Amino acid sequence: MNLATSVTARDLQHGYGEGFARTPVLHGLSLDFRAGELSLMMGASGSGKSTLLAILGGLLRPQSGTVELLGTAIWQLSARDLERFRFHNCGYIFQGFNLFPALSAVEQVALPLLFGGERESQSLKRARESLDEVGLTARMTLRPAQLSGGEKQRVAIARALAGSPKLLFADEPTSALDSSNGEIVIALLQKIAREHGATVITVTHDPHLGKHAERIIHLQDGRIADDALPVRASRAAALISLPLTPPEPLS
Ligand SMILES: Nc1ncnc2c1ncn2[C@@H]1O[C@H](COP(=O)(O)OP(=O)(O)OP(=O)(O)O)[C@@H](O)[C@H]1O
Ligand SMILES: [Mg+2]
Repeated sequence: MNLATSVTARDLQHGYGEGFARTPVLHGLSLDFRAGELSLMMGASGSGKSTLLAILGGLLRPQSGTVELLGTAIWQLSARDLERFRFHNCGYIFQGFNLFPALSAVEQVALPLLFGGERESQSLKRARESLDEVGLTARMTLRPAQLSGGEKQRVAIARALAGSPKLLFADEPTSALDSSNGEIVIALLQKIAREHGATVITVTHDPHLGKHAERIIHLQDGRIADDALPVRASRAAALISLPLTPPEPLS
């Protein structure tokens, strides 16, 4: 593993069901992810995106293959150590926001920190900083029913961000949002990758979001159909097409 590689998955195989009823879903995938990058995973419904994301995020144990997160072979940890590892290093964001109806935005974000043993004043301070970062300074005291879908998802991002995760996993974080809020959320995830050096892996259906990502992985029937670096590729293309300095005219 080189220094910047933060996620290493090898020969992942997974299926659901037993015997004749078994449906294979992932067919021996190997992937690496790097710190500071937002990667998007796309593919048709049923192609295995959520299964792969759950395996990469240490939420689902693959039937075979290995996952190393930040140099730790996570499935060799005890259940308790894995839970601790996830708590300290991983953040998760889901389509449905998963907010508590009775809590204000700042309380939603502070709660996991309190559970983690942080003092109340420190938890609230960190929660406010996190909400500031996602542009919700003016919405901190509102409950989910008083927030728009895009704002709710930004609260969920602030909650994940408050724990300073090195690895952030998001499954369809924009699918309940209109396209402009979807772009805001993806741009925010990219900013988190760049400014915090986090590894951000996001499943999405929306091809328009590709311009915000460092990398797009296409899954097809549990295999990698394509793995591209759109931003760098377009930067390289831009460099190649730069006009050359015209030669000095001969005198
Ligand atoms: N817990 C489960 N039990 C049985 N089959 C499952 C389970 N979870 C997923 N599957 C099946 O595995 C396949 C891949 O599912 P997965 O959720 O990974 O796909 P996906 O690419 O995320 O799809 P979508 O875009 O619809 O969310 C599907 O055929 C699905 O029916
Ligand atoms: Mg899915």
